Parts: sequence; structure tokens; C-alpha cells
Amino acid sequence: MPSRLTGQRGLGDSEIDVSDDGGLQDANAGVDKPPLLEARNIQKHFGRVVALRDGNFALRPNEVHAVVGDNGAGKSTLIKIISGVTHADEGELRINGGPVTITTPREARELGIETVYQDLALADHLDASANLFLGREELLGPPLSWFGFLDKKAMRLRTEEAMRRLKIGIQSVDQPVLSLSGGQRQAVAVARAIAWGRRIVIMDEPTAALGVRESSMVLELIKEVRSQGIAVIMVSHNLPEVFAVADRITVLRLGRTIVTLNTAETTLESVVGMMTGAVAAVA
Ligand SMILES: Nc1ncnc2c1ncn2[C@@H]1O[C@H](COP(=O)(O)OP(=O)(O)OP(=O)(O)O)[C@@H](O)[C@H]1O
Ligand SMILES: [Mg+2]
Repeated sequence: MPSRLTGQRGLGDSEIDVSDDGGLQDANAGVDKPPLLEARNIQKHFGRVVALRDGNFALRPNEVHAVVGDNGAGKSTLIKIISGVTHADEGELRINGGPVTITTPREARELGIETVYQDLALADHLDASANLFLGREELLGPPLSWFGFLDKKAMRLRTEEAMRRLKIGIQSVDQPVLSLSGGQRQAVAVARAIAWGRRIVIMDEPTAALGVRESSMVLELIKEVRSQGIAVIMVSHNLPEVFAVADRITVLRLGRTIVTLNTAETTLESVVGMMTGAVAAVA
């Protein structure tokens, strides 16, 4: 039976909670404050494989922060540690300067961190509205709620509102997501993350499976998310896309976060060089 998580902010709220930085648009917002999220000296081994040997990462409020690196560099491992899917062997995570433990995806969500996984994890046979509320379905008031009746009308209205807010053009939130294009499906997955994510939305390769037009739609969506006061961590292999949308870029090589750069102050060629080790990392 579906249950409503109590005390959880989300679609019903009139505006998104943006921590204490209140929707700043400037890419350098929060420079003098503790980072919104910080990973320090993270280490992670899988048996004898060292996935992360020195993971350091700082996310500012309201920025799009790309994490790049070659295959096996440790990007997904870092993301999974932040979203509670795997646990670090060493190191610490901090939010707004205070240490936190994130041992499950649910704990991450409770801290306002939502993740869009690469496989999207949408329920194909359900419509956008049902997907948005998957696992968080709204019940009707008692006594109907005692029998598990869902308040579909309320969910649909809130979904339409979320789609409007994100400027996502889906003709009907009632059609099964199976019938949507790849870009629209990605949009629904992103909308779900944004609808519930209060602080941080993490996207692992958000455009990897998409065509050109769909990719640009998702990139617009990422900018829209930032404009709503949420910070975005974006893992990507696509450097032109990273340069189109990210405020800062962290480069991972062989399990080490070797540098974090302001996108405006670097070039695609030097980032490629740092990823491969051909160019020394200079912040
Ligand atoms: N569950 C696991 N078990 C064993 N080894 C793992 C596991 N997950 C990751 N690794 C190893 O850790 C290293 C880092 O993997 P990770 O998936 O973080 O890389 P990545 O940067 O995301 O790579 P890609 O660009 O290919 O997605 C790799 O050597 C990988 O083989
Ligand atoms: Mg990966």
C-alpha cells in the first residue's frame, strides 16, 4: 500500500527551499561560505581495486558542477557515496560545514539530495504524474486513505505545476512515459528529482542516451534547475556539453580529484589534457 512520507517537503510546497542562499544566480555565489556540500579525503576500495584514493570535492550553492574523468576514474563511485548508494572507507562528507553521515539513498533524500541515475529508473507503464510520485503517493483524506485510495487529481495538478515551472512541454501528464521521447523521459526523471530535491540534484551522464535535440532540452533543464536555486552535480563524458552548462569542473584521474576549475577560465583542450595526464593540473 502506498504511503505518504510525513514531514517531507516536495511538490506541495509553493516554492523550493534553497538553503540559506535564497536563489542567488551568480556562479560565484557562496564563495566565502562553507560549501553546500563537501567531500574530504574520500577513499574507497573494492577488494584490491582502489576506486577513490583521494576524493575532494566542494559544491557551492546554486552552481552546476561537472565531474569529469576517463573511464574508471572514480566519478560514479564519488556520486554513489554522496547519494548513499555506497559507503566510503575513509573521509568525510559535510553539508553547510557540518559533518553528515549518508548511509542510504533515503538519508540522502532527507538531506535534500536527489539523484537521477543513468538508467533513469522510470516505471514505463505509468504516466508522468505517477512517476513523479512513485513511492510518495498522495492519499485521499480519511476515510478513503484507510483503503489506500490515491488522490490522483492532486498528484496530476502538482505534476502539471512542476512541469510548468520547469518549462517541460509534455502534452499530457496522463500518458504512459513509455510513449514519450528519450528527452521527455529524461525530463520526467529530472522533474522528479527537482520536485523532491531541496538542495542538490545529481545527474550521472544525463544525456548519454539522448539525441542532439533531446540533449539540448536536458541542458536547458539543468540551467532552469540552477535558476530555481538548486545546485547540480553533473557527471559527463561530453565536454562540449560540460562547457555549455557547468560553472565549475572537477577533474578526476585514477581515483584522485586533481583539480577544480572555473569553466570560464579554462579550455576544453586543457581539461582533456588533465583527464589524460598530458597536461599538469593547475587550478
Ligand atoms: N562495485 C564494484 N566492484 C568492484 N570494482 C568496482 C565497483 N565499482 C567500481 N569499481 C571500480 O572502481 C573504479 C572506479 O569506477 P567508477 O565506476 O567510479 O568509474 P567512472 O569514473 O564512473 O567510470 P565510467 O566513466 O566508465 O563510468 C574502476 O576501476 C571500477 O572497475
Ligand atoms: Mg561511471
